[in-house]
Amino acid sequence: MQEDKARFLTGMRRVSGAVAVVTTSGPDGERRGVTATAFCSLTADPPSVLACINRETWVGQLAPLSGNFAVNVLAGEDRHLAEVFAGRTAASGEDRFRSGSWAPGRSGAPVLETALASFDCTLAEALDHATHVILIGRVLETQTGEAARPPLLYADGVFTTTAEGAQAVR
Ligand SMILES: Cc1cc2nc3c(=O)[nH]c(=O)nc-3n(C[C@H](O)[C@H](O)[C@H](O)COP(=O)(O)O)c2cc1C
Repeated sequence: MQEDKARFLTGMRRVSGAVAVVTTSGPDGERRGVTATAFCSLTADPPSVLACINRETWVGQLAPLSGNFAVNVLAGEDRHLAEVFAGRTAASGEDRFRSGSWAPGRSGAPVLETALASFDCTLAEALDHATHVILIGRVLETQTGEAARPPLLYADGVFTTTAEGAQAVR
């Protein structure tokens, strides 16, 4: 027996998450990126992250070949980048990088200069599971910009942020 897909998705809408643009520089140097919430820290020793990416996306196709990817965690003020890299505008492929300020990281993957935090990785492992590939990255470099700013969040199907950044609920 398996849970009904619609109920599963309804449950997952209740899970609020940080939003990143996961990028790669393909074997021919072509830049590709997707908006993603399915990413997290894996281990601190060694510094590693994982991202779950649909194999139908460019990043899902190219990162296992190129061996590099970067997780660029977005600030609330960079919400338009989440829309662009989710395919909600006409821009696709390389054209998406006309939005935002990007530079190659040590791995070669595009790193967003205004990211709250970016984790530039060399691919340690790519695990296929059903529709997705799980990219496991060894972090070569973490960049955190100048100051912490309110994060972009995705909750109940909408982009949101916190007014003052992280605040404890008491
Ligand atoms: C809030 C949000 C979160 C998303 N999270 C993921 C994710 O974790 N993994 C994924 O593969 N796609 C995710 N997507 C979908 C991709 O961003 C979307 O399919 C993207 O346009 C694929 O680009 P491409 O097919 O043009 O390469 C998400 C979309 C949105 C709006």
